Amino acid sequence: MSDVIALPNASGPRDTLGRQLHDLRISVMDRCNFRCPYCMPKEQFHEHYKFLKPVERLSFEEIIRVTQLFVANGVKKIRLTGGEPLLRPNLSELIGELTSLNGVEDVALTTNGILLAKHAAELKASGLNRVTVSLDTLDPDVFAQMSGGFRGVEQVIEGIEAALLAGLSPIKINCVVQRGVNDHTVLDLIERFRDTGVIVRFIEYMDVGNRNHWSRERVVTSQELLTRINERWPARAAQENYHGEVAERYVFEDGKGEIGFISSVSEPFCGSCTRARLSSEGVLYTCLFATEGVDLRAPLRAGKTDDEIRDLIRSIWLARGDRYSELRAGLRANEHPIKKIEMYYIGG
Ligand SMILES: C[S@@+](CC[C@H](N)C(=O)[O-])C[C@H]1O[C@@H](n2cnc3c(N)ncnc32)[C@H](O)[C@@H]1O
Ligand code: SF4
Repeated sequence: MSDVIALPNASGPRDTLGRQLHDLRISVMDRCNFRCPYCMPKEQFHEHYKFLKPVERLSFEEIIRVTQLFVANGVKKIRLTGGEPLLRPNLSELIGELTSLNGVEDVALTTNGILLAKHAAELKASGLNRVTVSLDTLDPDVFAQMSGGFRGVEQVIEGIEAALLAGLSPIKINCVVQRGVNDHTVLDLIERFRDTGVIVRFIEYMDVGNRNHWSRERVVTSQELLTRINERWPARAAQENYHGEVAERYVFEDGKGEIGFISSVSEPFCGSCTRARLSSEGVLYTCLFATEGVDLRAPLRAGKTDDEIRDLIRSIWLARGDRYSELRAGLRANEHPIKKIEMYYIGG
């Protein structure tokens, strides 16, 4: 396959704002078995929607090769996402190869959890360290509303339990909070997972893509949520686990675990963003809110050498200046809405 030497401790290039390349999020599948209205509203992603053909997606061999070239540029952490990554056949095989790459320190997965019970044990056996499961509510009707008409809270819970049993740790839950939709169910979610070791993290509803009809009124800020949670279970801020951690951590005063807040709308964290994102068809994006990316699949398939592609990645990162979340207020006031990449396409 590849003859690249992925330097185990290669330090990444720094972008124009001094941020060092460190993490790579790989979307392994553009399709999804849900239609969450905030991500893939079913009016747009209907049965005739043209998803990628299998041959258009990066093959496992291509993903491994390009990952090595990212590692040679300083990447140490990999997160597999989608779409729904567990829809990608034989995902565990890919994970097995990624976890054994020289220089890769951590491989994680974000999933909607609906297929997790089936795959948890094999994922663990393949070397996966940990898993993040998206679960917006325990209320079956609200769940159906937020997944685009699908039921399955019980299945997701079974998936989380199977992951716990398999030893995937820590398990984190991502909950996107929308005012008037699921914010009244947040305390129930915490109650269910407090004292289980599972960490629930609340994500401010974001204006990713152009299709989710985002409005600021629907955003429940982390501060507001924290005030509500504090009234029931007092919690205090805890130190970040590592520099650039996306979620702000809070531990319960009674010692029964922790929760997290991802406040990309109210408190943008662009300044510490060290993440590159690769779409299922191999386009590299340097921001979740990017307007365009650079195709890596073409050079991969055109016989470019490892050195050439590694240098291409480096040059893209060196030129990076994205800080969309910090600029959001000004940009939204703009008369011409910018075209952004959809979340399902590059993952969260
Ligand atoms: C795009 S999904 C892909 C992986 C998998 N299908 C899942 O749902 O976990 C990754 C994460 O992005 C989150 N997400 C999607 N659209 C969002 C939005 N508009 N605002 C905030 N988070 C969003 C999801 O809740 C999920 O936790
Ligand atoms: S958030 Fe995840 S589960 Fe929901 S539509 Fe997007 S990719 Fe699918």
